[in-house]
Amino acid sequence: MDFKLNNVYQINADEALPILVNSGFQFDLVLTDPPYNLKKDFGNKSDNLEMGEFLTINKNRISFCRDLLNKEGSIIWFGIHHYIGYMQTIMYEIGLHYRRMNIWFYENGFSRTTKAPSTQYEPFLWFSKSDKKWTYNVDDVRVPYKSTERLKNPVYYKNSKGEIKKWEPNPQGAMRGDVWQFPTLSGKHYKNERTDHPTQKPISLIMELIKAYCPKNKEGYYEGTILDPFFGSGTLGVCCELLNKEGHNIRWLGFELEQKWVNIAEDRINKVRETLV
Ligand SMILES: C[S@@+](CC[C@H](N)C(=O)[O-])C[C@H]1O[C@@H](n2cnc3c(N)ncnc32)[C@H](O)[C@@H]1O
Repeated sequence: MDFKLNNVYQINADEALPILVNSGFQFDLVLTDPPYNLKKDFGNKSDNLEMGEFLTINKNRISFCRDLLNKEGSIIWFGIHHYIGYMQTIMYEIGLHYRRMNIWFYENGFSRTTKAPSTQYEPFLWFSKSDKKWTYNVDDVRVPYKSTERLKNPVYYKNSKGEIKKWEPNPQGAMRGDVWQFPTLSGKHYKNERTDHPTQKPISLIMELIKAYCPKNKEGYYEGTILDPFFGSGTLGVCCELLNKEGHNIRWLGFELEQKWVNIAEDRINKVRETLV
């Protein structure tokens, strides 16, 4: 199989990933939202595995993804609070380097039970290939300062050498924290973005992650390669193409088991490509 970047393929990622490795592909970022094993109906059994199989299959997947990263590359791996700990253990075991357990926080989720708190987050792990170098575009994902009062006067603090230093607010905003707040696509407000895919991620969230983790060129444009082996409705591709229309140069590749989701992904991506900005 001859994969070309900027395309989605209907294929089993467990077959496609070793082919990519053997063909010498390298990526700056693997940004993916794989089946969480919560018995969602994707049209296949991929989200309903026996626990041992779920762990073995994910160890293989994450290992292939590690092999596909270039030396400063990173993995962003979405998961669910039930099982994310297992994924984190696997990442340590296979020699990836922990950078951060991030949280996607949303207030507009809904609960099917009154016997536990309603779920308002999904964790996503960030591990890097190297322990020395990785990409994080801190200034591209700054957020507004909470308190404007505090910004009126400089803050003085002691650095690690005991020297007095002056802190002044960054004109681009505060550093983003590791809790990323973006609404889910539920409700009337998001009906135009929503497709039939049961676990479609919002463009707002995936866009922000690309801005944070995709390498940039000297001119300040995003320039890198991103792999999503569990492409679903293609949100990753849509975001890359939207950015490419602004002059960025992101090459991406998607794999998806179900032709139905591939069709939806291709439709969404073609709409972005064909629409004049
Ligand atoms: C959580 S969804 C991804 C949703 C996606 N982020 C979006 O915004 O639409 C996971 C997807 O992985 C697909 N999938 C499951 N097992 C797969 C496999 N072995 N190879 C490729 N795709 C797979 C499922 O069909 C499902 O569409």
